[in-house]
Amino acid sequence: MNEMIEKIITRHAIRRFADRQLEEETLREILTAGLYAPSAGNNQYSRIVVCQDKAVNLKLGQLSRYMQFKGRDPGTVAHSISSDQPSIQDDFTIMDGFYGAPTVLTIFTRPGQYAHDDAAMIAENIMLAAHFLGVGSCYIGRTGEVFATEYGLERRKEWGVPEELEAVCNVLLGYREGPAPHEKPRKEGRIIRVPAAE
Ligand SMILES: Cc1cc2nc3c(=O)[nH]c(=O)nc-3n(C[C@H](O)[C@H](O)[C@H](O)COP(=O)(O)O)c2cc1C
Repeated sequence: MNEMIEKIITRHAIRRFADRQLEEETLREILTAGLYAPSAGNNQYSRIVVCQDKAVNLKLGQLSRYMQFKGRDPGTVAHSISSDQPSIQDDFTIMDGFYGAPTVLTIFTRPGQYAHDDAAMIAENIMLAAHFLGVGSCYIGRTGEVFATEYGLERRKEWGVPEELEAVCNVLLGYREGPAPHEKPRKEGRIIRVPAAE
């Protein structure tokens, strides 16, 4: 198998992070990969905020967990995602929805037809680049809800994010603690081939 494709297949969501920050050069390369993601009509509207402030990331991570369950009993809404890199849905005692990741990215884009597409393209480039460099990552949704809170609104103002942009997703980055997670087999029948006309 092609080496790059093998790498793509061995990327897994990482939620257990070592207490070690990314080297600046590594982070720079990962972010460059994000900037080179495609964007609709080459709009390049997106901003990637890099936060390595532990207290801020913890608070945002707690809000993210809150948005997942919103006061509901987690047992009634959770389902099994990963046993070796447990998510907040697998282990209700995890109160930080960012899992203590040392670097948390927030991707903002201009609202519109392609906002989520643009942000997801950046996130995937970043997660793959991270994996190529031996860095673990995890995509986190619900970011719009987190940045609609008073705390989130204050942070984006403080960070100087242009007012017209919306928060779409987070990407967690950090070195993995413990062994690589087991592969999650992909479901059968997800590729539908259209037969060529005779
Ligand atoms: C749109 C989206 C939202 C996600 N949100 C979360 C999240 O809030 N918390 C989390 O721990 N993982 C989240 N993930 C990661 C998925 O749980 C993970 O990608 C999935 O279980 C497949 O595992 P793999 O990435 O190791 O292949 C999200 C992934 C996507 C694509």
